Amino acid sequence: MAQVLHRLKGMKGRVLVVDDDADARGALAEALREGGYSVETAADAFKGLGKVPDFAPDLVLTDLKMPGMDGLEFLRKLRSGGYDMPVVVTTAFADVETAVTALKEGAADYLTKPLDLTELSLVVGREMDRLRLHREAGLLRARLAERYSFSNVVGSSPAMQNVLKVLPQVAASKASVLITGEPGTGKELLATTIHQYSPRAKGPFLKLHCAALAEPLLDSELFGHESGALPGSPGRREGRLQQAAGGTLFLDEIFALPAALQVRLLRFLQEHAFERMGGEETLHVDVRVIAASNHNLREEVAQGRFREDLFYCLNVVNIDLPPLRARPSDILALAMHFLHKYASEDGKSLAGFSDEALEELASYEWPGNVRELENAVAHAVVLASGPRVTAAELPPGVETPAVRTAGIRIPGSKMEDIERHVILTTLEATRGSTTKAAEILGMSVRTIQYRLQQYHSAPKSELHAPAVIFKRPD
Ligand SMILES: Nc1ncnc2c1ncn2[C@@H]1O[C@H](COP(=O)(O)OP(=O)(O)OP(=O)(O)O)[C@@H](O)[C@H]1O
Ligand SMILES: [Mg+2]
Repeated sequence: MAQVLHRLKGMKGRVLVVDDDADARGALAEALREGGYSVETAADAFKGLGKVPDFAPDLVLTDLKMPGMDGLEFLRKLRSGGYDMPVVVTTAFADVETAVTALKEGAADYLTKPLDLTELSLVVGREMDRLRLHREAGLLRARLAERYSFSNVVGSSPAMQNVLKVLPQVAASKASVLITGEPGTGKELLATTIHQYSPRAKGPFLKLHCAALAEPLLDSELFGHESGALPGSPGRREGRLQQAAGGTLFLDEIFALPAALQVRLLRFLQEHAFERMGGEETLHVDVRVIAASNHNLREEVAQGRFREDLFYCLNVVNIDLPPLRARPSDILALAMHFLHKYASEDGKSLAGFSDEALEELASYEWPGNVRELENAVAHAVVLASGPRVTAAELPPGVETPAVRTAGIRIPGSKMEDIERHVILTTLEATRGSTTKAAEILGMSVRTIQYRLQQYHSAPKSELHAPAVIFKRPD
């Protein structure tokens, strides 16, 4: 016996043995202890239940036939109490039927009495192995989840998970990144996060808003200037590029970069070289560039307002942040995130939102995206008096789910225009998936495709291009 169980040494685990027969209990406990397990015993199911919370057994071995509460009832009590450890039942040979019932109710296995200790060691060993695998898989899943979550970026929607999934690689690389998305979708937050998780995290992270300054000033801000080159600024000045050496420069609203500066930025991206305004000396610095735009940059290229070569240089990695309305599953997670943030800043303890408030948050369109949601929650936290934020405490605009009318009026619009609007808006929300749109609208995929063909030649489609995250080799 000792030999058989010896194999189990080292695979330790906790086993709770429940049996009203003192001899059986003692023998089982001894055999299992010899096998390297840590064992507790209980003379009946009530005592067994009492031991579970503290001892936290990995496995329970229980007799089926016991006075008071029998093994089957004990098993049910464990399960209804939320305990899912394997339970192995022991039963007299004549009562295999009850053992089968126990299996149906979730027992892991049964052993017949008199007990064969070899069988006992095999069954317990197998269940422990299974448990370990299960736990390892759980741990792995938890680690993966951890990898895709970045402390400050909230997003459980498939679209955001795709973004978070590529973030570690994007952060590790030196490639330029172009982040696109409507205002308030989190472009700057993402740029900051990429920098924080990059090997240059200890270096500076600087920002320059390309739409905020007129050309000569922007030139000087970006590349710097020599003495006398910039009227009104007599001395020599270092630009952001130089100040960001060893770090990251975030160029916001890149679409607004004037043509002459586009040429010089292109040269910098290709050769890491530039000259200050009015300067002859060529400077070399190591700076990673992340650009953002809420204008469609391809469209700017098509219109001849943005250099195509610069576009490709910036767009080595493109991360498109979908509007909040296209990722409704993020709304509540973000709302809770902001609730905790602002409540703790205000020293308030708020548990969440009332059902009505949740409904309003979920049905509103959020044209200002995450920024608008953040402000709405901040507003509500200031007003909140109860344990939960009520609908009345949300800003006034949120209570009316904004139907994006796009020129549609009811009454007043033709059915075909209404249908067109509904189809295109739904496709936007499904990020171009006709299958999902068909499901939502209760239409056939073919009808939607047919309509799209019809709309194709019609002026200016509202259709949002499906988000793409792609990475070309450095
Ligand atoms: N996924 C997110 N998780 C947590 N906070 C977010 C998220 N996305 C955006 N935010 C918050 O929303 C606000 C707006 O985000 P951010 O400034 O990054 O947007 P933006 O796209 O740069 O907007 P704009 O185009 O107007 O400059 C910030 O306070 C940011 O921290
Ligand atoms: Mg921004």
